[in-house]
Amino acid sequence: MQRILITGAASGLGKGLAETWAKRLGKQAKICIADVNDERGQEVVSQLQGQVADVLYVHCDITSESDISELANILQTRWGGVDTVVNNAGVATGGSLLGESIEQWQWVMDINVLGMVRVSQRFLPMFRKQGSGRFINIASQAGITPVPCMGSYNAAKAAVVGLSETWYLEFKPQNIDVHVVCPSFFKTNLDESMRTSEPTARMMMDRMFDKATMTTEQVAAYILDAVEKQQFLIVTHPEGRLAYRLKKFLSRPRYLATMAKKTGGMVKRMLAEHQERKGE
Ligand SMILES: NC(=O)c1ccc[n+]([C@@H]2O[C@H](COP(=O)([O-])OP(=O)(O)OC[C@H]3O[C@@H](n4cnc5c(N)ncnc54)[C@H](O)[C@@H]3O)[C@@H](O)[C@H]2O)c1
Repeated sequence: MQRILITGAASGLGKGLAETWAKRLGKQAKICIADVNDERGQEVVSQLQGQVADVLYVHCDITSESDISELANILQTRWGGVDTVVNNAGVATGGSLLGESIEQWQWVMDINVLGMVRVSQRFLPMFRKQGSGRFINIASQAGITPVPCMGSYNAAKAAVVGLSETWYLEFKPQNIDVHVVCPSFFKTNLDESMRTSEPTARMMMDRMFDKATMTTEQVAAYILDAVEKQQFLIVTHPEGRLAYRLKKFLSRPRYLATMAKKTGGMVKRMLAEHQERKGE
């Protein structure tokens, strides 16, 4: 039996992972959908009911330690523990350095980084007591090969990659696994949460969603296969793996020159937007 908790599973990737696990494990899975979107969360539960051994929705805001504590207590009582925690809940931000307020930085860090820290702090003792457990942390391609005008999001996801590597080393001797996932863009409801003061940043995200080369289902299936193979760093998209390889194997000046050439147009558009606004 796999007892699985997925944060942010009312939508997008979290929901996709729940569906894929349900298909693959059937009655060998118990799944908890934790989210702040109660309506969507309940919909996922209705959809999975009957397919798995148990499925439940728990309202849990990962910025709230009391919500997380309540969630852990519910799962301890109902299932006697948890085998897999997917730290998936997240939001999006965009903008240039001058376009992102400190409030926007604090908001994304509080959810995308500290949210994961809070959840992991609460579930690690449970894993320790059990003598086993697994964290799957959802970062992003943005955390390993950043592009301009996404400073706070890139920094948050780079922090998730760094944290995951730290925890891999820290938890390994305790028989607790850590995986970190870096997807490029795929179409979800992430744009609903996006905060930005710059229309170009939003346009960029819409365009990336339109150009997405993988569906949510494909991303979820890739992740589960890679976890099965015990991969630590999971880069889901082929173009993401290529970019990561370029960064690893090209000299740093050459890699940066290539990226600057590729992304220069976007930066110029952003600058023009600033000029226009100043002229208003
Ligand atoms: N969609 C992409 O292109 C993409 C690419 C790389 C990484 N990611 C990452 O994948 C993860 C899932 O995003 P998605 O694309 O499925 O977006 P989504 O918006 O469809 O799903 C995110 C879910 O997180 C929930 N959530 C937001 N704040 C929360 C909080 N404080 N507490 C609990 N739940 C909260 C939302 O209600 C939502 O259901 C995020 O960490 C995101 O950064 C997404």
